[in-house]
Amino acid sequence: MWNNEQGYDNTLNAFRNSLERLQMDYVDLYLVHWPVAGKYLETYKAIEHLYEQGKVRAIGVSNFLIHHLEDLMGSCRIKPMVNQVEFHPLLTSKKLLMFCRKEGIQLESWRPLMQGRLDIPLIRELASKYGKTPAQIVLRWHLQQGVVTIPKSVRKERIEENADLYDFELAPEDIVRIDGLNEDRRFGADPDRVDF
Ligand SMILES: NC(=O)c1ccc[n+]([C@@H]2O[C@H](COP(=O)([O-])OP(=O)(O)OC[C@H]3O[C@@H](n4cnc5c(N)ncnc54)[C@H](OP(=O)(O)O)[C@@H]3O)[C@@H](O)[C@H]2O)c1
Repeated sequence: MWNNEQGYDNTLNAFRNSLERLQMDYVDLYLVHWPVAGKYLETYKAIEHLYEQGKVRAIGVSNFLIHHLEDLMGSCRIKPMVNQVEFHPLLTSKKLLMFCRKEGIQLESWRPLMQGRLDIPLIRELASKYGKTPAQIVLRWHLQQGVVTIPKSVRKERIEENADLYDFELAPEDIVRIDGLNEDRRFGADPDRVDF
């Protein structure tokens, strides 16, 4: 649900238009894209309605921080099933990850490969240790924390590389070393600073 179409009626209209463009009669997952102040509660109410009508298989939010989730859970009837946020080794968001785990909200990572900024000595070292690529090390780090990850590439060989993650496992101490790269660094917008 895009930022400028939020609100109860707008959401129902926008959803109808999306279904038409997709030529579908349902979608698998529908997310509130941004915690737009003063609007996201109404937007989410409309999404709950679509879920109850069977037009959406799973519902959730995106770019919600802990305080947005607490606010939403104070009034919603159906807990968000997914929260899609920027998440990678330079932005490990431990508190948010723990909060979502505790609440049973699946964390999903956007910009998981930091848009290709993978030239980090530790990541290179681990790539050589495990005989995998830097992207695979970073994506495996996501998976082993139970985070769903959605890397993007326009190249067939990279799409295959980014899915080839199931023949190795990072040792717990290497997960901790990658966690240590955290700089709370965002490459995208900060949900507390940008209000669409
Ligand atoms: N909910 C939100 O607010 C939000 C915000 C931003 C993005 N997203 C979504 O998140 C997904 C991914 O985000 P993103 O594209 O920003 O970030 P990303 O997946 O971290 O980075 C994509 C970039 O990394 C390169 N890349 C991909 N695989 C690689 C590999 N194996 N080795 C080296 N470089 C590689 C790609 O280049 P090539 O294409 O040349 O391979 C592309 O430039 C998208 O579906 C996007 O729609 C959601």
